[in-house]
Amino acid sequence: MPRLLITRRLTDAVHERAARDYECHFNMEDRVFSKAELIAACQEADAVIPCHSEHFDAEVIAALPARLKVIANHSVGTDHCDLAAAKAHGVIVTNTPDVLSDATAEIAMLCMLGAARRGSEGDRMVREGRWDFWSPAFMVGRQVTGKRLGIVGMGRVGQVMAERGRGFGMEIHYHNRRPLDPALAKGAVFHDTLESLLAVSDVLSLHCPTTPETTGMMDAAAFERLPDGAIFVNTARGALVDEAALVAALRSGKLFAAGLDVFRDEPGGNPEISALENVFLLPHIGSATTETRDAMGFRALDNVDAVFAGREPGDRVA
Ligand code: DGY
Repeated sequence: MPRLLITRRLTDAVHERAARDYECHFNMEDRVFSKAELIAACQEADAVIPCHSEHFDAEVIAALPARLKVIANHSVGTDHCDLAAAKAHGVIVTNTPDVLSDATAEIAMLCMLGAARRGSEGDRMVREGRWDFWSPAFMVGRQVTGKRLGIVGMGRVGQVMAERGRGFGMEIHYHNRRPLDPALAKGAVFHDTLESLLAVSDVLSLHCPTTPETTGMMDAAAFERLPDGAIFVNTARGALVDEAALVAALRSGKLFAAGLDVFRDEPGGNPEISALENVFLLPHIGSATTETRDAMGFRALDNVDAVFAGREPGDRVA
């Protein structure tokens, strides 16, 4: 049986299937590997299923043994892998698209509503025994019904987010490399530039990958283009955002609030953001449901199976 390294603790169902078909090296303590440990663990593996917590940079990839055929990521995002280096090294890289779109869009909705309706502030007040007052003027937030939802990246997650937004009576706008087929766009308004989308987004939600072009795209100028009092949602990647500019926009009131599931520094987040009242924050749990974790693990295993069966894996990205 081929040897399979699974770098983090996955669900029991995924471990059972993996153990049926592979000689597995599990990490039951769920310890984060150092770079040296990751390289060492890969030496005995024919395949690896990592998460976004393991960084396959050029140095790690150069140290991979020839026996290791595939890096089958347990994530849709692949910004933790140097794809060009992998290609040059001759190792296949795959990801897990589709299966986490519903879960991630749910978290984006939670972030949007938590930010708009001051979810964290209210929760803290009740929990800490500080709720000693009520009036119609108390804890007034923003209603999203009827507002314009701007989606950056109308891929699989973006399209589910659009559907959920429609359920809340929102008008959908989006920016993408190209317009969607009308059957998929379902009336959503295409903007060929980010600037044009920003100008109409009462709520802006990011659903695009991190690339050299998108890294830091939400900078001071971008926040300034949003309508006053906009709500900003990020469930994609922290690297898309200049966090100092985000803090300034939240402090000045340019943004009413932000709902964030991702940060530049993870785990941990950004203490300057955490210190603000007008934020709703989560610890990168967009795809963290039992159903989705099973589906991601199975999808990664499907990709590994394909490689050892001599087939092209369905989700090859390099
Ligand atoms: C993804 O799949 O990219 C999620 O962020 C979890 O890693």
